[in-house]
Parts: sequence; structure tokens; C-alpha cells
Amino acid sequence: MSNQEKDIYILAIESSCDDTSAAVFCNDRLLSNEVATQAIHKKYGGVVPELASRAHQKNIVPVVDIALKNAGVDRSQIGAMAFTRGPGLLGSLLVGVSFAKSFALARNIPLLEVNHMQAHILAHFIKDEDEKDAPEFPFLCLTVSGGHTQIVKVNSHLDMELIGHTIDDAAGEAFDKGAKILGLPYPGGPHVDKRAREGDPEKFAFTIPNVPGLDFSFSGLKTSLLYFIRDNEKENPNFLEENLNDICASYQQAIVTFLLQKLKRAARETGVKNICLAGGVSANSNLRNQLTELGESQGWKVFIPRFEYCTDNAAMIGIAGYFKYLKGEFASQDITPAARLSI
Ligand code: KG4
Ligand code: ZN
Repeated sequence: MSNQEKDIYILAIESSCDDTSAAVFCNDRLLSNEVATQAIHKKYGGVVPELASRAHQKNIVPVVDIALKNAGVDRSQIGAMAFTRGPGLLGSLLVGVSFAKSFALARNIPLLEVNHMQAHILAHFIKDEDEKDAPEFPFLCLTVSGGHTQIVKVNSHLDMELIGHTIDDAAGEAFDKGAKILGLPYPGGPHVDKRAREGDPEKFAFTIPNVPGLDFSFSGLKTSLLYFIRDNEKENPNFLEENLNDICASYQQAIVTFLLQKLKRAARETGVKNICLAGGVSANSNLRNQLTELGESQGWKVFIPRFEYCTDNAAMIGIAGYFKYLKGEFASQDITPAARLSI
């Protein structure tokens, strides 16, 4: 495994957006992963940063306590502390960074600073009861979350190249903003997914965005949905209600087709055939199914994470921290959060 002399227990925390999460690892083996989701944002139809920071402040100690208890590990056994430095909401990150620094200082253990986007990708290396194979290097990862849409060429655990990204909204925002237009609750992705399963993806045609190279753009798609509903409601005020499942299926189809079109191009241009999915939107059933089918037709080896590792969680922070620990890459006590942080 490594030149490590003895087992290392790592406590990891994630607080970049609206989930407070803590995980405990023994080396690369996950022992526990607890997530407290902040329900408060549902009321506002989106994450309210100030409320998110306050909820993190309230949740962080209990969530860490439960993670340690469920792992059967005492805090005195923890040998390193991993945390999300960014990207994310500054107030939310501050809670996690401050907690991590205090814990590390109190226990006199090293700090492991983690990039949230790298962590989404490294979730593929978490060892758990599934005993699934990890992807071989190099691989391409399509990372699709609420704040990011990226195609990354992964050369090794900590050497990653961004080869494509969104120039405006993220794929998750296309789902969430689209869902808002359709009157569905926040976060909209899972609701669109559920409705789409009962609908016909061919019923309505949404134009696939035309963006050069390996980049993405989703804001036009969301606007076309808005106009589509508005125009049809002029003819039939019940249009939305009567066609909701088909609209969800057709809109989702456009998002997924666009994502896979770019991924196919990236694979062709790089010649890489190991393909991974990561981030919250990789929980989407249509994306998972279509990527699996595309992989079979293209001769790719496709890796899709378990549902609980798709949306934000501390397990992915812990595994990323573990690879930094192996390389001796420790953060100092002067570290500050970074709302913007490239991969
Ligand atoms: O990675 P994540 O948990 O948080 C960020 O780092 O942003 O991603 C959250 C995003 C939200 O936009 C949510 O609607 C989307 O993931 N999402 C889904 C599904 N489950 C979560 N989108 C489509 N289909 C799903 N089943
Ligand atoms: Zn995320």
C-alpha cells in the first residue's frame, strides 16, 4: 500500500455548502460517514449562505461525535485532521476550517487541506464493503455538481488537469433552476429525475447548447425552458400540469445528451478510455444509465460512484486527505478558506 509504518486514523469534515459532514478513516478504509442536511434552505428555494454558516456551527460538533462513535474510534486515536478548504461558500468553509484547526491544535496532529472538486473525483478510491475496483490512471472524470461542471484528466491521485468546464451555470443549476421554473421543490435535481422516469424524453425537443471545445453552457437551456412554458401556457393554461413528467424527461434528456456529447469528445481527443462520473448530478438515474450504455458502445471502462458518495460528504474529503498524508503534504495553522479554488 505505501511506506506508511502504522495505521493512520483520519477524521474528515466537509462544510462547503449546505451539508455538514464528518467521516472517519483507517488508512483508505472508510469507518463512518455522517451527513447532516440543512432542511432550512427548502423554504427559500436555494441555499441562503448566512443560514448555512449558522447551521454548520450548530451541527459540526454533534456530527463529528456521531461519526467517531459509529466508527468505534476515540478522538485520542485520530492521527490527522482533513478538511475542505474550498471552493465553496466562505462562511460555511470558515466553520469547517476553524473546527479543523482547533481540533488539530488541541490534539497536536497534522492538518490535511482538501480541494472539494478533487475530493469528488477521489471518492472513487474510498474502500468500503463493496470492494469495487478503483479506476486506473489516467482517467477522465465528468464532475457534475450544483456549483461546477468539469471534465478533468486525472493523471494520479493529486495530479489533475482541467480540460473542460462550464462558462456559466453548472449542470446542477440547470436542474435546480429548471425545477424552480416547473414549480418543483429545492433542490430540484432529484425531483426532475423522479418525474422524468414517468415521462417521455422524446415528447419535446430542447436545443442542445452549441459551445466550442470541451466547455459547457447551461444558462440558455434554462431560459429556453422558461420561454417554452410561457408560450405554451398562452394556448393552454394547464399545459405545465398536464405535461410535467414529459417536460422533465425532455429537459433532462437535453442536459444528459449535452454532457455525454462533450465527454465523448474528450475521450476521443485524449485517447483515454477509463471514464468516471462524480458530483451530485451523478446521482441522476438517466445520466448513470446512458453513460453505462455509451461506455459499452465505445469500449470504455466506466466507473460510477455509490449514491452516498455523489452528493457532498466527508468520506471524499477523508480519502483525499489520506493521499496528501501519504505524500506528507500538511497544511499550516495559518491556512484560510478559499471560496474560489481551481483543481
Ligand atoms: O455535489 P453536490 O452535492 O453539491 C455541490 O457541490 O454543489 O451537488 C448538488 C447538486 C444539486 O444541484 C442537485 O439538484 C443535484 O446535485 N442532484 C441531482 C440529483 N441528485 C442531486 N441532479 C439530478 N438528478 C439527481 N438525481
Ligand atoms: Zn460538491
